[in-house]
Amino acid sequence: MTTIAADAVELAEIDIIDVKWFEDGTPHELFARMRAEAPVRWNPLPDGTGCWSVTRHADISAISRDTETFSSYNGGIFLHPDQVLPLDLARNLLLYMDPPQHTKYRLILQKAFTPHTVSQLEDTIRARVTKTLDAVIEQGTCDFAHDIAVPIPLGMITQLMGVPEVDVAQFYEWTEKIEAAQRAPEPNAASDVFVQMAGYIHAQIERQIAEGGTDSLVMKLREAEVDGEGLSDPEILVFFGLLAFAGNDTTRNTLANGMHALLQHPDQLQALVDDPSLIPNAVEEILRYTSVVRWFNRTATRDTELGGQKIAEGDRVIMWYASASFDEEVVEDPTRFDIRRPKPDHKAFGGGGRHFCLGAGLARAELRIALEEITRRMPDLQQAGDVERLQSSWANGLVKLPISFTPGPRS
Ligand code: HEM
Repeated sequence: MTTIAADAVELAEIDIIDVKWFEDGTPHELFARMRAEAPVRWNPLPDGTGCWSVTRHADISAISRDTETFSSYNGGIFLHPDQVLPLDLARNLLLYMDPPQHTKYRLILQKAFTPHTVSQLEDTIRARVTKTLDAVIEQGTCDFAHDIAVPIPLGMITQLMGVPEVDVAQFYEWTEKIEAAQRAPEPNAASDVFVQMAGYIHAQIERQIAEGGTDSLVMKLREAEVDGEGLSDPEILVFFGLLAFAGNDTTRNTLANGMHALLQHPDQLQALVDDPSLIPNAVEEILRYTSVVRWFNRTATRDTELGGQKIAEGDRVIMWYASASFDEEVVEDPTRFDIRRPKPDHKAFGGGGRHFCLGAGLARAELRIALEEITRRMPDLQQAGDVERLQSSWANGLVKLPISFTPGPRS
């Protein structure tokens, strides 16, 4: 546990990316001080270099919208350019592209995530949630993180991709490895997984073609074109990898942390049980309050100025979404969890620029439907043990959340 009080910290000296500040969750007091005293501050790193750490909502919006000055492509979205994957390979992922390349590829994927497509998935999501709750409902206890928050988004993303149910466990293992690669001390830690996934996706494409094609995402990507040319199998693979990475842990961590927040505020959980019409707004507050993707990096393409600081070409700039979602300038009394907060303004889905989360609609639907079914079928849900947090400064994850409830019938 971090015992150093936020007001005793010398802001100029600390490396806020160090996991030690996140052992008990996002260090909001420290971020509040940074927003007030040093909203754009030079953050020293252990290797003797440094990066800019940006904590205010308005500055993060400005960086996200200015892709010419702040590139995702040049240095990648993590601190080490080759974190997770070698930069050359990762640059095939939408998250690592700059316009105009980004615009072309985003259009392709966007078609799979229109509001209409998401609304058509309502029944599929509810069936997935029902199946997940059926597996634990008779027990009266379970680990919410592992037994409920993991299978819902994992099941949805694999189903959308046409991954057969028997392969979901394998797929889960891969996504866990990709996630761990983000925290790994050495770069390129997910390269092997991508090679394995490459073999798998290749076989999937063959199988789905042999079976006469399906309307899975894999097949949609196969039919898609950029500048009149189809995507190559390696390009499809990286999209596949991106969705595995972007659409899975994020939703899982939001659901698990969101439920934890509700369990810590039992009156608000009860309010959702009594009046499910509060759930859509509760989802927005949960997104804000949990902001599970805490930061992404950009690299300055030229000398520029931000918040009175001179940023040099090539400097890395960390945008703390988890701080922006708690910025007093846009959210009143930000550390208060309040499911009735009118339209909570947050940066959980990114800074609002071109990279704004493509799966936001799907994630919102998954979270809403999960909460609708959980509060309906487990109305007396309680926390039954201590939580275990993912040790990461980047992802706000819960790996364990024991709960108990009155057992009920399977559907
Ligand atoms: C609560 C769940 C989720 C959270 C908190 C989340 C968060 C984010 C964030 C912070 C970004 C970066 C935005 C930026 O840099 O401005 C992002 C991008 C993205 N997300 Fe999500 N995400 C979630 C769910 C999903 C789902 C379910 C999918 C798809 C199935 C998805 C697909 C993507 C993709 C493809 C991008 C890249 C967009 C681009 O670069 O243009 N996300 N997400």
